[in-house]
Amino acid sequence: MEVITLGNETLRIKAAPVPEVTDEIRSLIREMFIVMEKADGVGLAAPQIGLSIRLFVLKADDGIERAFINPQIIQTSPETCSYEEGCLSVPKVWEKVIRPEKITVQALNERGRPFTLEADGLLARIIQHEYDHLDGILFIDRIDPAKKAKAEEKFLKKASKKDA
Ligand code: NI
Repeated sequence: MEVITLGNETLRIKAAPVPEVTDEIRSLIREMFIVMEKADGVGLAAPQIGLSIRLFVLKADDGIERAFINPQIIQTSPETCSYEEGCLSVPKVWEKVIRPEKITVQALNERGRPFTLEADGLLARIIQHEYDHLDGILFIDRIDPAKKAKAEEKFLKKASKKDA
């Protein structure tokens, strides 16, 4: 299992719902937590490992491992805040992104049971970032276009150096 990076088409596709929470999905979730920890990430969405399904995992500052299957953000606060984001699929780029401060999300957990979670702070931030991955959106899409172009250029330059 490897984290794919900017330029890979799977990152840009709207992911399909998970039809059923099976043992296979549960072991996938376990593996995703391992990959995330190894990469020093705080969140990982299935499209980032090349699987176009609506599932992500995260570990915010409360240290709790959470899995979200077929999530839906059902409410966002009018208050927004700015936070410097990075992404395992866009290595070495960090930019401030403005997002709603608080959100309410509904999803299935790894047992296939529905839950509703109200989140703020880092947790709300990670959920929104990972949720975007399921719709083919990257955090650089939410920054100033000139900064986005610069970030893409910086990344592609690095990628071509690696290929050389
Ligand atoms: Ni990301």
